[in-house]
Amino acid sequence: MNYIIGGTASRSVAEDLTKILKGKLVNITSKRFPDNELYVRILDDIKGKDIIIVQTTYPDPNIIELFLLQNAVEEAGAKSISIVIPYYGYARQDTKFQEGEPISAKALAELISKSADKVITVDPHKEYILDFFSTSAVSCSAVPEIAKYLIVKKIDMVLAPDKGAVDRAKKASKIINCDFDYMEKTRIDGTTVEIKPKNLDSENKNVAIIDDIISTGGTMAKSIKELKKQGAKKVFVACTHGLFADNAIKKLSTAGCDEIIATDTIISDYSRVKIAPSIAKLF
Ligand code: R5P
Repeated sequence: MNYIIGGTASRSVAEDLTKILKGKLVNITSKRFPDNELYVRILDDIKGKDIIIVQTTYPDPNIIELFLLQNAVEEAGAKSISIVIPYYGYARQDTKFQEGEPISAKALAELISKSADKVITVDPHKEYILDFFSTSAVSCSAVPEIAKYLIVKKIDMVLAPDKGAVDRAKKASKIINCDFDYMEKTRIDGTTVEIKPKNLDSENKNVAIIDDIISTGGTMAKSIKELKKQGAKKVFVACTHGLFADNAIKKLSTAGCDEIIATDTIISDYSRVKIAPSIAKLF
């Protein structure tokens, strides 16, 4: 039987996973010392047990909590430790874009690997970041669950915001049974990007744009505006990881978005799709 620990960022995902895997949710306590340092304690006996820790590594305090939980589990004499990271924060700094930078995705992976027999994450920004872990690391995709959610919305077309993400749109379109395509990004100058649909007719259609991450909402907002300009009926934006930084939600609404859909890899008001069923398939 799996013994499952939910970190602060992913408690509900851990609960869902416990139900699906028919495991046991481990009782823990997590609080702050007066100086704001974190204290965690595992309250159940987990010696010799197979443990799954579920924790998104965003925002930063959740990374520390994950490290402390990993150490507590190791100290308690668990048989095996699997780490489920619904949203792997720092994945976008996956290379040295400029001299002097760290490879943040690698730095974090190396530390997590120290006390892990297996790592599972969801729709990593680039699949090759899994190689940064020195332990076994695999990923699953939220796209099938997002597509299932979209079926009742009568979607005529699924779009990827750029060519690189077209496989995701194709996968969703097969489940929804509709067309798919991708948007074309054209760089106007150093700071301006134009986004327009490539050879497609969105007039009077319900369109869903699917991306891995919505951060500032800039990419999606430009895509929505373009689609609405071309006469799209409804535009849904869906992502696996809804960071919604800055004024993302306002930006999306102002652009004319009809619904914002994210999963619960990062818990927000827009977490309409549960990720646990996709993760559970990897156990
Ligand atoms: C980029 O490669 C990602 O897939 C997303 O398109 C990007 O992170 C979205 O960022 P923003 O919401 O800030 O436009």
